[in-house]
Amino acid sequence: MVIDGECADGGPGVRSVLPLRWIRAMLYAPGGHQPLAMKPRVSFVVISVAVLAGLSGASMAWGHDIITTKITFDREIIRIVHARCATCHREGGSAFSLMTYNEARPWAKAIQEEVLERRMPPWGAVKGFGEFRDDQALTPEQIELIADWVEGGAPEGEPKDLPEPPKWAAPPPAPHGSGQVTVNGDYKLLRPLTLAGIWPRKIAPNASFQVTVELPDGSIQPLLWLQPYQPAYSHPFWFRNPFALPQGTVIRGVPLGTTVDLLPSR
Ligand code: HEC
Repeated sequence: MVIDGECADGGPGVRSVLPLRWIRAMLYAPGGHQPLAMKPRVSFVVISVAVLAGLSGASMAWGHDIITTKITFDREIIRIVHARCATCHREGGSAFSLMTYNEARPWAKAIQEEVLERRMPPWGAVKGFGEFRDDQALTPEQIELIADWVEGGAPEGEPKDLPEPPKWAAPPPAPHGSGQVTVNGDYKLLRPLTLAGIWPRKIAPNASFQVTVELPDGSIQPLLWLQPYQPAYSHPFWFRNPFALPQGTVIRGVPLGTTVDLLPSR
């Protein structure tokens, strides 16, 4: 779509400006830009449209979409946004806000595409290979709700269904300042390490590789399977349970030229 073309080298800024423009275009669509020159009859129509839109939760602002779903933004979708998107997609977050219907609606098609392709939320690792505690991946049911909502005309619903906005806890734990072990290529631990997390650091876009540990007794355990990892969304992967790696453990699978930090527990 156009956005991708414009943004290929335009940086994130271009993208976040676009939807605002669309929102404005949509809000002004019924009456146009000539409030002073309006004839009384026209302004009456415009006002009643505005009033109706207000009463019916502004769904009329979106013109001619035919609504064929009972799933609404205010009831189902906002809850998914709160749980899985809003850590980044909010005022003051790392990406444009999806916290209100007017902010999210212009992105409806893109949202459907991103979640179906599993590009959003950006996780970058294969599920089931290693066990992590901050996995934000959507469940199949959540993906279906989003897809059905968009296909059904992306209705707003009723403000009375809106949940309380989440309170933002402290930002996710920053990796500890010291003690991390930087791995580049196969790496043998010279001292024991209690491993709490792993953080890809210097890494090519779309990187895909498996990291495993080989314990001194010869057994092999999965750590992390990156695929396809986007350094733009760099984040640490925290294990559900930290585990003890004895001296002599070999970390395998990190390609030469790529660096991954092993994060020790405190
Ligand atoms: C870890 C942070 C993070 C989470 C969680 C996250 N996103 Fe994003 N998302 C981003 C960033 C960063 C961008 C790029 C923003 C930009 O270009 O301005 C982005 C871009 C997008 C885009 C635009 C893609 C395009 O270029 O067309 C959509 C749509 C999107 N996210 C939807 C979602 C949805 C829906 C969720 C939750 C199910 C979600 N995101 C969760 C960080 C996140």
